[in-house]
Formats: sequence, structure tokens, C-alpha cells
Amino acid sequence: MLYPSGMRLRIAITVPYADYARQWRDEVAAQLPEAEVFIDDGERAVADYAIGWKPPPDFFERVTGLRAFLSAAAGVDHLLGHPGMPADLPIARIEDGGMGAQMAEYCCAELFRYAQRRGQYEEQQAQGIWKQRGYTPRSEITVGLFGIGVLGQRVATAIRAFGYPVIAAAGSSRVEDGIEVLGPERHDEFFARSRVLILIAPLTEATRGVVNRDTLAKMPRKSWLINVARGGLVVEPDLVAAIDEGRLLGASLDVFETEPLPAGHPFWTHPGVRITPHVAAITLPDEAAAQLAAKIRQWMAGEPVSGQVRRNRGY
Ligand code: GLV
Repeated sequence: MLYPSGMRLRIAITVPYADYARQWRDEVAAQLPEAEVFIDDGERAVADYAIGWKPPPDFFERVTGLRAFLSAAAGVDHLLGHPGMPADLPIARIEDGGMGAQMAEYCCAELFRYAQRRGQYEEQQAQGIWKQRGYTPRSEITVGLFGIGVLGQRVATAIRAFGYPVIAAAGSSRVEDGIEVLGPERHDEFFARSRVLILIAPLTEATRGVVNRDTLAKMPRKSWLINVARGGLVVEPDLVAAIDEGRLLGASLDVFETEPLPAGHPFWTHPGVRITPHVAAITLPDEAAAQLAAKIRQWMAGEPVSGQVRRNRGY
């Protein structure tokens, strides 16, 4: 596609890892053969659109001419908190992009491990102990999803298929696809009912620190936390205290306030904490590029673009 100036459509790719950047460049170029797709190399450049995750601090000073930024991540805190982000630059984010199935797998794996008491059996094995523990009926393990967007819905579908009761917390009370969604006025009840709490919501002013001393104290005893969203949703010292006090049996954490998780952080060695390095869902360029290319085409045609970020709500 040629712009009136005769310039080709230019798309900048900015992601943290070189191999990943090349994959993105090739996949986007395959989707938009008329475009010049290049990897941001730290120099000044002109581009019509940028696709990426965690652009470097000087990105928006160097790369000019942008009409929109397309987030390769579902969470856009990396953009909204970016010091150089122009106030009026439209942002759209990936919607699923292959992440929903991965998140469902991750959450189910951790949920099943909890429900099947695998932690206890691993300890028993280490000690050579053969002892059958009781069985907790699935009906007693209510899974509470904090967040019920595209990814949350995918996770809910997977978990419900196994017969666990699922509830959700969001910005308003409603019933959505048969799931009871509790609004802010019922969030205390939400925490009190969630035997397994899954965080799958964006990090915004409203959600920062939502898992804290007070909310953890409402959860049923020996419950479990799974965080696949953002570390900032959890007040980390409060979580450690809740596990130490026996309120929570433990937590599966994929995301952290500071990433990479700093050496010496108490989570590294805490027996109740299971850590993965922000891999619960990786945007797969081969699945995501087609969707982002379609959004670019819609933008160019002046059509509505789904997944547009509303800055005032923070996602
Ligand atoms: C990854 O963290 C994402 O937001 O997609």
C-alpha cells in the first residue's frame, strides 16, 4: 500500500529479545507483504505503526510518524506507564492471539495440582511415605477468577469443563455465559468464596494491590492463589505472611512486582510458592501477526478496530 507521499507503509517491531523480534518481523511481513517491516535498532526512524512489547524508554522520541501502537501483549501497562508514550497515540492490544489456550493450560495444571494434593504427595515421596490422603469433591473447590475478559473467559470455560464451580470478580455484577460475576460491592464475598483465586485482570489504578492483607484474610483457609496477570496486583509481603500464617496453602506465581524476580527475593525459596518466569502465556507471532495485521488494515480503512485501549479505564 502506498501513502499519498509515495512512501510504503512502514511498521516498526519492538520487543525485548532479538530472536523473538525476527520472528515477529517475518510473520508481520508475511501478513502485510506491501509493507516495509523493520526491527527497531535504537536509531531514529519513521514508521506508521509499531508492534511490540515493552518499547525502550526513548522509543517514542526516536520513532516518529506513528499512527498507532499495537501491543503484542494483552496487558498494556508497559505502554500506559511508559514515560515517552504520546498522550494521543491510539493503542490496540492483542485479543487472545494464542494466549487463551496457554493460560487455560497453566491455570488448570496448577489447579489440578492443588486439588489432587500433589504437593503433599511429593513431600511424602521424598520421605518414602505411602499414605492416601482424602479427596476433596470438586464442588467444594470454587475457583474465583479476578477478571473475566477474553483470557479469563477461556480459562473459565476450561475449568468449568472439569466440574469446578467458577465465579468471577469484575467492575460490575452480572451473569455472563452462566458465570456469576461479582461487582466491587460484592468483592468481599468473592474472596470469601474463592478456594482457588486466579488473577487474570489488567494492572490498573483500581486493581493495584487488590490481593493484600485484608482480602487474603477473607479467603477460605488452606486456599491457593494463581497469578497469571501482573505482579502489581499482589502486595507481595502480605502474600508471604498469609502463607506463613497458614491462611493460604500456597501460590503459583508467573508474574512479579519486579521482573526478573530479584535474587534473594523470599519467593525464590519459600516452600509454598511455585514460580515460573512470566511464561503462562506467550504471544505466538504466527498466531498473533494475522490479527494485528488485520487491525492495521482496519485502521487504514477508517474502520472500527477491536481491542482498542481506553486510557481512562487503564486497559
Ligand atoms: C503478557 O504478559 C501479556 O500481557 O500478554
